[in-house]
Formats: sequence, C-alpha cells, structure tokens
Amino acid sequence: MPRRLPVCRSLARLRKARDAIASRHAVALVPTMGALHRGHLALVKEARRRADRVIVSIFVNPTQFAPHEDFASYPRTFERDIAALTDAKADLVWAPSAEVMYPEGFATGIEPAGVAKAGLEDKFRPHFFGGVATVVAKLFIQTRPRIALFGEKDYQQLRVITQMVKDLDLPVRIIGVPTVRERDGLALSSRNAYLSADERAVAPTLHRVLKRSAARINAGDTVETVMADGRAEITNAGFVLDYLESRHALTLAPIASPSEGPIRVLVAAKLGKTRLIDNIGL
Ligand code: PAJ
Repeated sequence: MPRRLPVCRSLARLRKARDAIASRHAVALVPTMGALHRGHLALVKEARRRADRVIVSIFVNPTQFAPHEDFASYPRTFERDIAALTDAKADLVWAPSAEVMYPEGFATGIEPAGVAKAGLEDKFRPHFFGGVATVVAKLFIQTRPRIALFGEKDYQQLRVITQMVKDLDLPVRIIGVPTVRERDGLALSSRNAYLSADERAVAPTLHRVLKRSAARINAGDTVETVMADGRAEITNAGFVLDYLESRHALTLAPIASPSEGPIRVLVAAKLGKTRLIDNIGL
C-alpha cells in the first residue's frame, strides 16, 4: 500500500501535523502555486537532501496577480500534484484556501524595497513582490522551516526573499536551486502550458539569447552592445520584450562591465498572451 501524503487545509491541522514531524527533525519548506513540473520537483529533491522532513505548500496566491493577469486561468492540477509529491516523498502538503490565508478583515502586508524595486519584474508587475513577500512570510510563520528552497528561474524573487529574511531576522535559511530546462533550453514553467505549438517552437529563443549574451560578455564584448543585439533578436523572433538586462547578481543594480561584479542577465517577454521569464549567471 502506498503511504498517504497528509494534506492540511486548516491552521489547526497544520500545527498539529507540523509539530508531530518537527519536534525531532529539521524541516524544509518548498513554497509553490501547484501545477507542479520537474522544476518544482527538483526543489523537493534538494529539500530532501538537505533536511529530514519536507513540507510543500500549494497556494495560488491571489495577491500577487493584478486584476488583468491570469489568476482565474492559472493551471490547477491538485490531484496530479499530490501524486507527484507522494512519489517525490514529501512529508506534508499545506494547501490552505484563500479564506484561511486571508480571512475577512486581513490588513497587514510586507512592502519590500531594494532588490524588489530594481526595475525588472517590479516595473511590469508592481503589485507582485508585495504579494509574494507577504504570503511567503506567512508561510514561514505557519510552517516554521529551518530551510526554504526557491528556484533561480524566478531570480529577482529569490533575491527579494533572501533580503526579506535578512531584514526581518527570520530564522530560516534560503537556498536557491538552478533552473530546470526542457531539452531545447526552455525553462520549465507552469505557464508554458499556455503556449501554442508555434509559440512553443519559438520560446527557446530566450535561453539561446541569454547563453549567447553570457558568452559574448565573457569574451569581452561590451555589455550594452550585447544587450542591444539580444533585444533585437528577441523582438525579431516575434516576442514583445519587457526587458533584457545585465545586472549585478546580488544587488540587481545595472552593471556595465564584468569588472564591476558578478553579472546576471535577466529577460522577460510576451509570446502571444504568455509572459515568459528567464535568466542566466555569467
Ligand atoms: P511557482 O511559480 O509555483 O514556483 C514555485 C517555486 O518553483 C519557485 O521557487 C520557483 O522559482 C520554482 N521554479 C519554477 N520553475 C522552475 C524551474 N524551471 N526550475 C527550478 N525552479 C523552478 O514562485 C512561486 O510559485 C510563487 O511566487 C511563490 C513563491 C510560491 C509565492 O506565492
């Protein structure tokens, strides 16, 4: 008989289940919005390697979507997610409803600045990091993990959460996990399901441009020229570009040359109605 993975939907049940596994064990948390793919499962695998018990949260957080964004249509595959997490040997799933997470009268939030105002995702999704920081802080308080794992795929998010934990003295260590990709380089994302066959064929352009940009900067080409060429290539492939930027890997400040510090190249672009993001380190 396969073991049944406990799913908690109320805070009372979560506290009981969490305390039952946590008194003798180091707990890792993997926060997700469900529609799980191999990228999410890589976080769970790394969590299992680093901690004795793994809690995965599944919560499509309404406060990080703007009214015109895809909250209503965001893929929800709960039964499949539970099966995948059972195979991946997660220990507990925390799946609160919106009413449990944000009861009537909810009025307190975290407003991150610094890396959350770098002019990347925040410029195109101004509501996003306030929603993410508040829900992630709540998830940390609810599950009290010793470590929490986040994907490098959402690089600015990883930097924002790392800064929040430092600023608020939260007793959790944040661990970044490298991006899991399809064979052709496309970063796995729950939103890839929105792509038509034609769009799916074009989508790997983003990773190709990131790789070529990194190689050219490493070979000594000027950052600004490389970015200009990359922007043109992405636009010519049929994307509507939000940004292609070279930034300091830690501060996310604009960077003109590798001599100024470690570089991360970050991109966001729309293909039809699907918005894709990706990034690469040099
Ligand atoms: P979601 O998009 O479901 O992603 C959950 C975690 O999986 C994030 O840390 C994300 O960076 C990671 N991830 C997604 N695709 C990945 C890939 N291809 N390779 C490696 N890791 C990948 O990010 C969120 O949810 C939410 O904003 C959340 C943090 C849960 C707060 O609501």
